[in-house]
Amino acid sequence: MTGSTAATPIGIHDLAITTTHYVVELDDLANAYGTDPAKFRLGLGQDQFSFPAPDEDIVTMAAAAAKQIIDRNGSQGLRTVIFATESGVDQSKAAAVPVQRLLGLPHEVRVVEMKQACYAGTAALQSALGIVSRNPGERVLVITSDVARYQLDSPGEPTQGAGAVAMLVSADPALLAIEPAAGVYTADIDDFWRPNDSTTAVVDGKLSMSAYLDAMAGAWDDLQAQGGPAIDDIDRVLYHQPFTKMAKKAQAHLAKLTGAALDLALPGDTADENARDTGLATGTLYNRRLGNSYTASLFAGLAALLHHDSDLAGKRVALFSYGSGSVSEVLTGVVQPGYFDADASARFSAVLDARETITIEAYRKLHATERASAEDYVNEVVSKAPFRFTGVSAQARQYESA
Ligand code: HMG
Repeated sequence: MTGSTAATPIGIHDLAITTTHYVVELDDLANAYGTDPAKFRLGLGQDQFSFPAPDEDIVTMAAAAAKQIIDRNGSQGLRTVIFATESGVDQSKAAAVPVQRLLGLPHEVRVVEMKQACYAGTAALQSALGIVSRNPGERVLVITSDVARYQLDSPGEPTQGAGAVAMLVSADPALLAIEPAAGVYTADIDDFWRPNDSTTAVVDGKLSMSAYLDAMAGAWDDLQAQGGPAIDDIDRVLYHQPFTKMAKKAQAHLAKLTGAALDLALPGDTADENARDTGLATGTLYNRRLGNSYTASLFAGLAALLHHDSDLAGKRVALFSYGSGSVSEVLTGVVQPGYFDADASARFSAVLDARETITIEAYRKLHATERASAEDYVNEVVSKAPFRFTGVSAQARQYESA
């Protein structure tokens, strides 16, 4: 990987996904709350959500996802780690710093944390593309990791979730070559945010949905203005998924904007024979079991698509990112020959299946536990993940390998 030409493709070389120890079954939540389970399964398009054990957080999930990348690719040429999250655990220190130590990465690496709600993962990816464009011999580790938490008994509660996706960005990528044109759109709006002293998000749910659709329309229009591909030249479309029904709403909006007949079927729905299958259902397979993983959500959709669709080589995928507040971006990439790993979907399904179901009573108790930042404590061992958040000592969070 030496030398640089304008034609050198740059993009996602490898991708790995992980989640938490616990899972909340939305049928259990519906039964406990006296809600029709169909509201969650059909109304939101969600079956479950991941929930962290006390010894897990965004750092342990991030390190577990990134470890898979380092185990497969080594750390040669890796000089930057960009950690995107909106559930940061410190106001000053980047969550990527403990990840550098836990993974045994060289000290000669720059690390940073990026924030702009769920959009930050796409900002991190764009930054990585820029670094590799300038020096194609370098590789950048992009990590998206989040724990989505809303107040108990609020409308957002069933859309919580957690997960991490790590990506290696390089020249001559094995998975997805990202194309240069991108559409962007920023609008200052108070649809969802998390004040510094709050562990849960403040949200105006209905406003957030219209803000999401307006922003994606703005980003799409900008992509066209930047000379990006027309809808008929795009084979698959992925969306940020706060809940999978939102991806269906976004797809309906894109169909209206472009006049294209795009299939709106989610898993379990009957496909429309007169509409084009752009991978909507396939891209939601993991998210409906993870819940909202904020910055990781769009890339969990990409993982689901790459793991389940074996006919993507040479096909163009559009990725719509949205982060409340708000920023949206749509970018496109071309799937590379040889990308398909026939075992990948079974591997990650096994991870999802291995989560321990937590009772609603135990989940509510854990959710309600808030530790003051001045308090030192030791976390009991619960998670079987490769890294643990062991507790707080002298007000600093402590992490170790399992
Ligand atoms: P809600 O109170 O559950 O809304 O809140 P609802 O009563 O309108 O019900 C939702 C859907 O369930 C509706 O379908 C109902 O018809 C249906 P729709 O009309 O939308 O197609 N429904 C049923 N379906 C079948 N059987 C039934 C039944 N009952 C009702 N029995 C809301 C929903 C999304 C507002 C809430 O969960 C919330 O506030 N979530 C958090 C905010 C959110 O996710 N916003 C999405 C866009 S913003 C975004 O994506 C950014 C974000 O990820 C964060 C970031 O960027 O940082 C959140």
